[in-house]
Amino acid sequence: MVSQHGAQVLVASNRGPITYSLGDDGELDARRGGGGLVSGLSSVSDKLWVCSALGDGDREAVRRGVSEDGVRMLGIAPETHADAYNGIANSVLWFVHHMLYQTPLEPVFDAEFRRQWAAYEAYNRAFAEALAEEAAEGAAVLVQDYHLCLVPGLLRELRPDLRIGHFSHTPWAPVDYFRLLPDDIAEQLLRGMLGADRLGFLTRRWADAFTACAEDRLGGLDGTEVGVHGLGADADFLRARSHEADVDERLAELRADVGAAADGTPRRTVVRVDRTELSKNIVRGLHAFRHLLDTRPEWRDRVVHVAFAYPSRQDLAVYRDYMAEVQRVTDEINAAYGTDTWTPVQLGLKDDFARSLASYRLADVALVNPIRDGMNLVAKEIPVVSDDGCALVLSREAGAYEELADDAVTVNPYDVTGTADALHEALTLPPGDRTERTKRLAAAATALPPQQWFLDQLEALRAL
Ligand code: F6P
Repeated sequence: MVSQHGAQVLVASNRGPITYSLGDDGELDARRGGGGLVSGLSSVSDKLWVCSALGDGDREAVRRGVSEDGVRMLGIAPETHADAYNGIANSVLWFVHHMLYQTPLEPVFDAEFRRQWAAYEAYNRAFAEALAEEAAEGAAVLVQDYHLCLVPGLLRELRPDLRIGHFSHTPWAPVDYFRLLPDDIAEQLLRGMLGADRLGFLTRRWADAFTACAEDRLGGLDGTEVGVHGLGADADFLRARSHEADVDERLAELRADVGAAADGTPRRTVVRVDRTELSKNIVRGLHAFRHLLDTRPEWRDRVVHVAFAYPSRQDLAVYRDYMAEVQRVTDEINAAYGTDTWTPVQLGLKDDFARSLASYRLADVALVNPIRDGMNLVAKEIPVVSDDGCALVLSREAGAYEELADDAVTVNPYDVTGTADALHEALTLPPGDRTERTKRLAAAATALPPQQWFLDQLEALRAL
């Protein structure tokens, strides 16, 4: 069933570049998203993006046959999608690769897990079938992320003529942690991925972890090539966007909120911007900030922790609980140390891109302390956007560590007192040193802009 008019380049991901919402008047409103893949693809022609309908608006768009040029949204049944996305992708695969389980009690691979796994298979099959229908003879297909690990193998069976790549935006689990998965599931995942001609990872560390798992379970990579493509920040876009009027406005508001100490000196800022994601380690970041105030009274009234923690995956109870804990610890710190004129932690929960960019511009210190993270683009974006240079406190478990460690103040993300010391060190970096480090961080962070990142993968796939 090779398409005569099919696309030459196809991308497949769970979340697509567009979201529909259904207004009270019954009209559909389409909103375009951003991100590395959207900018990466912008220079490619004759392309098709295959994605899943996620919410009611998307499903209504699929039902009405509304679509954007270059996008095919799959109307996968909501129960199947929920079991595949919430049940398997986000509650099992994400937990394995980010090492998030509290292992005395979890994971439990029971009959419910097997039922959800069948949904994950069906959801992957729906993608493979759509890609097989849409791809031109010999086309390149780039499958994204842990949601779609089985697609390469399934697609290979349907269309042996295609060039198939898969890219992981997450870390990959080390061998001993990957062994938590039932053997048959682990093998199915690996064989699914090895259906690709080429696998891409964000860092050498994650690529090596995958290779080690494939050797452990299957005895090798079975001819599949593995490559590393460290997605960088989009400097041109960020520099232009962060100087638009709405960002200037938010910056003025933020400056006023942060305020000045009793002697009139503007307060310093420790900034973090994250989805409220279990792997981002926001709660330990707050504990570290509290430890700084506990142990170094000279910082009281002189520093504000601007913490933007935007809602994510709120269908999952563990994410809702985590968000509540972020709020609880924030309130505790503000109750213990806040005064009439100083709020030590300014927590922002409403996603606001312009305000995030304003906080990047203002940051004296950027706090990026994930437990484990595929790359962490915030670590790369803040040095690019920062007005006066910033010091970066960076977890050694973030993918960005491979490229940015030399000019960052690095931390073990579990070590709260160590992180507090790192915050102090970052806040007291001599201005000249801070400026020089920021320049080098920005250069390293922008070494591989999204468009080049995507084109490199496409070229490598076609060269095979
Ligand atoms: O980091 C992996 C990833 O899939 C990213 O590509 C994406 O930014 C993020 O997770 C989003 O997750 P979700 O679609 O579940 O909100």
